[in-house]
Amino acid sequence: MRFGMLTSGGDCQSLNATMRGIGKALYRMYDDVQIYGFNEGYRGLMYEDYRIMEQEDFSGLLVRGGTILGTSRTPFKLINEPDAYGNDKVEMMKQTYRKLRLDGLIVLGGNGSLKTANLLSQQGLKVVAAPKTIDNDLWGTDTTFGFQSALSIATNAIDCIHTTAASHRRVFIVEIMGHKVGWLTLYAGIAGGADIILLPEIPYDIDCIVKAIQARTKSGQHFAILAVAEGAISKEKAAMTKKELKEFTKKAPAYPSVAYEVGAAIAEKTGQEIRVTVPGHMQRGGIPTAYDRLIATRLGAETAKLVRDNNFGYMAAFRNGKITKVSLEEIAGKLKTVDPDSQEIREARAVGISFGDC
Ligand code: F6P
Repeated sequence: MRFGMLTSGGDCQSLNATMRGIGKALYRMYDDVQIYGFNEGYRGLMYEDYRIMEQEDFSGLLVRGGTILGTSRTPFKLINEPDAYGNDKVEMMKQTYRKLRLDGLIVLGGNGSLKTANLLSQQGLKVVAAPKTIDNDLWGTDTTFGFQSALSIATNAIDCIHTTAASHRRVFIVEIMGHKVGWLTLYAGIAGGADIILLPEIPYDIDCIVKAIQARTKSGQHFAILAVAEGAISKEKAAMTKKELKEFTKKAPAYPSVAYEVGAAIAEKTGQEIRVTVPGHMQRGGIPTAYDRLIATRLGAETAKLVRDNNFGYMAAFRNGKITKVSLEEIAGKLKTVDPDSQEIREARAVGISFGDC
């Protein structure tokens, strides 16, 4: 049997650990298997850039961050546009698949990458997927591999800020990744003991943030820590149409990111000293946590099982603590966002965390 494998989109700590799970399981399932590892995601599939992955290539990967295959972003919205040489990207991928006489393609990817996986599946390729992303925003699975490790780093960033914050009368803002959703910020914010958590799903009111800071000061705490999602948005902006927002952004002062914008607004209203920390891509780096390795290994083994059982067109997923499968058609293009009325949010509010929305 001949299978293609690729890692696509932003990397994360447990891509290698998941590939290890898939590879080890496939080599045990088949007496004769060849795995074609495409370099740098769909780019490798398009341009026939691959390497044969031998059994020993899957050893020593459990604790190795990044991806040994490399990765790239192939935006889905441009998938039907020709490449720089005028070639049809989808046709090129189909050609490589056929030329190598593959019996299946295994895609480790997040939202955008799985839209492409679904497209290829609809066009007749045998595709299975494993849910990757530090953002945890993939529809159809409770958790994704990569999330746990990024959570640990984001929480550690807040922990480090905590000790310095306690020595100064300042407001500290930690900006956390997550693209358009707030999972990473919510979980790291709670785990790191942030006082205020701002999520894209709960637009903030700057006056409510100020109130929360002042309430802390009144209670004798002279510092405050905000965990701010990179996609956080104010109530005013959330109420605008796309066109209005574009006009507004043109006229408003330009900030490097939302954390600086929130910081400037707090400084203006309170006169307090503000410090901003952006851990950025650190959150995707380093070695996977123990729990992430466990998730990666389980999802890897189950992805191989999808292949063996001829369950093409599916992604391995976690639901209610159990591994299951979900069809690519069902998940493509959907985003799993934080429910503002969820238990986690209610519990966070119960311990006094503000979401900037009094
Ligand atoms: O999807 C993972 C992620 O790290 C997001 O949290 C973030 O918005 C984005 O990727 C950053 O992308 P890039 O690595 O292309 O800068």
